[in-house]
Amino acid sequence: MEKKVKILLTGSEGNLGFSIKDKLKNFKNIILANKKKLNFNNLNSINNFLNKNKPDIIINTAAYTNVDGAEKNKNICYKVNALAPKKIADWSYKNNSYLIHFSTDYVFDGKKKTPWNEKDKPKPLNFYGKSKYDGEKFIINSKCKFILLRVAWLYSDRKNNFPQKIIKKILEEDKIYVIKDQIGTPNHVEFISEITIKVLKKIIKNFDIKSNIFHVSLKGQTSYYNWAKKIKIKLKNNNCKILPVSHKKFKTIAKRPLNSIFSCNSLEKFLKIKIPNWEKVFKKKANIIIKNSN
Ligand SMILES: NC(=O)c1ccc[n+]([C@@H]2O[C@H](COP(=O)([O-])OP(=O)(O)OC[C@H]3O[C@@H](n4cnc5c(N)ncnc54)[C@H](OP(=O)(O)O)[C@@H]3O)[C@@H](O)[C@H]2O)c1
Repeated sequence: MEKKVKILLTGSEGNLGFSIKDKLKNFKNIILANKKKLNFNNLNSINNFLNKNKPDIIINTAAYTNVDGAEKNKNICYKVNALAPKKIADWSYKNNSYLIHFSTDYVFDGKKKTPWNEKDKPKPLNFYGKSKYDGEKFIINSKCKFILLRVAWLYSDRKNNFPQKIIKKILEEDKIYVIKDQIGTPNHVEFISEITIKVLKKIIKNFDIKSNIFHVSLKGQTSYYNWAKKIKIKLKNNNCKILPVSHKKFKTIAKRPLNSIFSCNSLEKFLKIKIPNWEKVFKKKANIIIKNSN
């Protein structure tokens, strides 16, 4: 018989959290926590919140995601991305709850020439990546039941992600330079939230499902430069020139991995699914993104 469960979603107003919140509408017993309700900066408040609400399953999307900001605000970043997940995982272990947690391609150094799989050793290049990797290790060491989903190159219809930023630039400038040697797979948050719901349903069906790490991504790959060119085609009648540039010319505070492509064979086997190509998804979403960017 299926277990009756109470589900907590943290980061419910974030890029991914917002999309998962929408998909949770069909579930009963949902506790939504945005930063106002549950602020990870106050580590002591986490146990109080969990003791009060006693969730059976926790979906943790809350994170400090400002990659450059993390180099300056190390304390806050580490609290939110490493120490708060540790608190949640320790509580989950003691209370027999299941934790679904999100991590990132930034745990890797990007130097591999082929897609990253779950057996590859993380070696973060920046503080954000280190904080997320430490968060992963705390969860694994807590012995709680967990599914850790590593995601990369997220975008949505509503937030100021890569497509929205590029659309703004294309509309305002005659010529823009975009990085050509950083590659990955653009993932619309709706795809990630659909996968999360599939994982959630598996846990509800079998609470003893084995803890594991999965890479979650659509298929295919592109560079930021080639993605920008595809975005421009969707804008029609636009004369802005898009020019390729090396990452070396684009100085950022934090270093970023050059290869962020994930191999998702384990996830496909686990969920018995065939993952579609990113371009198919992007083609469907482009118009709404353009409309929302106006
Ligand atoms: N976006 C990407 O391309 C990407 C790539 C790889 C992995 N990820 C991972 O995917 C997950 C979801 O990311 P996302 O793109 O949805 O990020 P996001 O849009 O920045 O959402 C993160 C959420 O966490 C909240 N948050 C920040 N500080 C907090 C705190 N101290 N206490 C409680 N909540 C706090 C944010 O609230 P405020 O907005 O109010 O600060 C926001 O609602 C994260 O684990 C992230 O590391 C994202």
